[in-house]
Amino acid sequence: MTISFQELAKKGKPIVPVIALPSLECALPLADTLSSCGFNILEITLRTECALDAIKLLVESRPQLVIGAGTVKNTLQLQQTLDAGAQFIVSPGTSAEMIAKAREYNTAVVPGVMTPSEIMVAENLGLDTVKLFPAALAGGTDFITSMAAVFPGMKFFPTGGVSEDDVNRYLALPNVVCAGGTWLTPKTLMEKGDWNKIHEIAQRC
Ligand code: 3PG
Repeated sequence: MTISFQELAKKGKPIVPVIALPSLECALPLADTLSSCGFNILEITLRTECALDAIKLLVESRPQLVIGAGTVKNTLQLQQTLDAGAQFIVSPGTSAEMIAKAREYNTAVVPGVMTPSEIMVAENLGLDTVKLFPAALAGGTDFITSMAAVFPGMKFFPTGGVSEDDVNRYLALPNVVCAGGTWLTPKTLMEKGDWNKIHEIAQRC
């Protein structure tokens, strides 16, 4: 059985910060800043070296949060993120092998899609949510709307080009479970440790 991402998403705001952490030291102050604004579901991407350590640290020290791993591209990375304690896995693409492995561990997985064929793969493997990526380039809200009739049970988690200005247009769609992006956690602000500014951005959402 595979854990439903839709169920997991109910534990927080429908906006998921997608985070490329510049250093491990940023993990706790950033997570605390975001959670103080109601962001309980965080995606830590494997784009920086400290990502696995950060996932482990956050899972162990902030049990009230839901910590996922993003940019997971192969089964080795998937295993590493599961070992670190990731509670959900997000991938830029769709891999039946990775979905099967996540299922073995009873962990929610959200594969990236840009076409109906990829959505069919995810649906036929029993998943209830896919990541539309890169959402803006894939057709944004129009694409998601046009998939509703064909995939009535499938929900979308759009990321990639989603911004503060248009996130609410995505969230207004009935088949969008949540939306995400890096706009909440700009690299320069994380590097400077400017948690006040990140708090300001988060509060606007
Ligand atoms: C992702 O990994 O989901 C995206 O790269 C986030 O895209 P953004 O940087 O355009 O928000």
